[in-house]
Amino acid sequence: MRGPGVGPDADGGGACSEGGLSGDTKAVGESYDSGDGSGENGRVARGGGVGGGVAGIGVIQELYLGPDGLRGGGSREQGDEGSGRRHGPASLTKLLFAITILEGREAPLEPSIRAFIYSFLQKRSQETAQKLKMVKICCLGAGYVGGPTMAVIALKCPSVEVVVVDISVARIAAWNSDQLPIYEPGLDDVVKQCRGRNLFFSTEIEKHIGQADIVFVSVNTPTKTRGLGAGKAADLTYWESAARMIADVAKSDKIVVEKSTVPVKTAEAIEKILIHNSRGINFQILSNPEFLAEGTAIQDLFNPDRVLIGGRETPEGKKAVQVLKQVYANWVSEDRIITTNLWSAELSKLAANAFLAQRISSVNAISALCEATGADVAEVAYSVGKDTRIGPKFLSASVGFGGSCFQKDILSLVYICECNGLPEVASYWKDVIKVNDYQKSRFVNRVVSSMFNTVSEKKIAVLGFAFKKDTGDTRETPAIDVCKGLLGDKAKISIYDPQVSEEQIQRDLALKKFDWDHPVHLQPTSPTAVKQVTVTWDAYEATKGAHGVCILTEWDEFRKLDYVKIYENMQKPAFIFDGRNVIDPQKLREIGFIVFSIGKPLDPWLKDMPAVV
Ligand code: UDX
Ligand code: UDX
Repeated sequence: MRGPGVGPDADGGGACSEGGLSGDTKAVGESYDSGDGSGENGRVARGGGVGGGVAGIGVIQELYLGPDGLRGGGSREQGDEGSGRRHGPASLTKLLFAITILEGREAPLEPSIRAFIYSFLQKRSQETAQKLKMVKICCLGAGYVGGPTMAVIALKCPSVEVVVVDISVARIAAWNSDQLPIYEPGLDDVVKQCRGRNLFFSTEIEKHIGQADIVFVSVNTPTKTRGLGAGKAADLTYWESAARMIADVAKSDKIVVEKSTVPVKTAEAIEKILIHNSRGINFQILSNPEFLAEGTAIQDLFNPDRVLIGGRETPEGKKAVQVLKQVYANWVSEDRIITTNLWSAELSKLAANAFLAQRISSVNAISALCEATGADVAEVAYSVGKDTRIGPKFLSASVGFGGSCFQKDILSLVYICECNGLPEVASYWKDVIKVNDYQKSRFVNRVVSSMFNTVSEKKIAVLGFAFKKDTGDTRETPAIDVCKGLLGDKAKISIYDPQVSEEQIQRDLALKKFDWDHPVHLQPTSPTAVKQVTVTWDAYEATKGAHGVCILTEWDEFRKLDYVKIYENMQKPAFIFDGRNVIDPQKLREIGFIVFSIGKPLDPWLKDMPAVV
């Protein structure tokens, strides 16, 4: 373990020592002192008593190879690290001294035996150094993707040093505190185990990128709001400046990994920037898209369905793919690590998100038909999902999908199709978004039409603002559009979400479409808070005196609320609009509510109310 102050931001910090090399450290002599001040070799050297044999050789290997041996031979930055931990005659003397002690001899070994051992260890050192070269990873972008992904890499690969860097000082400070900047089940635990060991968060972007062997880039890729491709194309400004900066600060060869979702062929553009600014340094670019879903990010990272790595089909490209593959192979079985060419990897990510979103739009389209016909969407989805070719997942009807990826990625896909002369394909995917927008406006219309066609000055309680349960993330949450729709009809809204702050909600309701996808300090600030909106920290407070309740996130706690109490404290007739199918409509009707649940047979009250946009 590192002593206090010895991290990558401290002078002379460097590779950590938890590689797979150590032999039986219990059999170590007392007399070795690495003298590097890191405390790492000290850990090795100050173990139990003297031993010999196989364990002794293990110790010698560790003494000899140690962290320096791993990084030795070829790293241009070795000298930069200032540790002075190199293998010269002094190390050799210590090695021979250690051999002497371990063999229990009083006099040094015979020169020929000594030479033999020396050449054996040197050869092994070189081989192992090649095989197990300590990898240093740096990730630019400490967001929902970069933070958890790097934390899990650090946890699963103790011999890899991971530094996550970001331009946001506040975000990095939060990653270094007890209050992590994102809420994700299990994340705290992972971060606690590795932070300060082989996981670090820093704002010293250039320094750490300069030192890294592998640089992940996970920065924002917003949808363009002006100029060519506005409203569809991905804005690669942050990516381009990241690439230029990497080229600028690199002192050694690097593998640059696209972690952000990017349009197909982005790698080509990035590669051009890197190569044209390379100053003799070799860059290999890989695409390694992330498939984690928020709320289950840690589980998804621990047990991924697949890890996808795309690279150039050149010998260097293939080698780079293998290097990254070895990182994941620490915990993911090889049959789950798919390697492809760069373009397939980039497109697979967009296609996967488009397919997932398409399933939701399909079931949501059917939900409208269910309401019109008296069918129940849950029953239909269950029957459909029982077909093993279709499967049961991702068939829950809802008020609409949200999240930072689906809409953005489909828009990007649409734009790419258009640019490649495929308008029919573009329009096919565009309809997935159209149905999603339709679902949100349909919901708002249900609310307004059932409440005598106006919600002006009526209090409407909104339960749940995050784009799904178990996350505090509100990016593209359907709650924004629903609230804006109700505000458009002059409703007074009272919002409760267990994980979303008032500041975030006010910001979301004031931001223009697509403006959220920028580093926080570059987002246009909201002029003033929306006056008709209040935010509470209690569902009962939010619903007190309300005319209607809208459930917009499927938080488990909403299933267990005391709806009798809520009903008693509401205006009558009391309405409940369940956009996530979390409540039992029949039970709530028995309490006295007028109930609307997405895709369920309609309450008699609602039957004659027009809800179609
Ligand atoms: C981000 C992108 O939003 C998404 O499109 C992409 O597919 C993956 O990366 P996420 O991690 O969820 O996803 O985003 P966010 O939480 O906003 O994190 C991005 C981070 O990058 C922010 O912390 C931001 O400050 C940082 N950043 C951005 C930089 O450090 N430098 C930059 O130049 C731009
Ligand atoms: C998604 C992808 O699942 C993930 O692989 C990718 O890396 C990023 O985008 P995420 O946005 O975190 O992950 O959440 P996801 O669970 O996919 O849900 C997206 C939206 O769809 C949410 O608003 C959710 O409530 C909604 N949804 C999901 C439904 O409405 N019905 C469903 O059956 C499933």
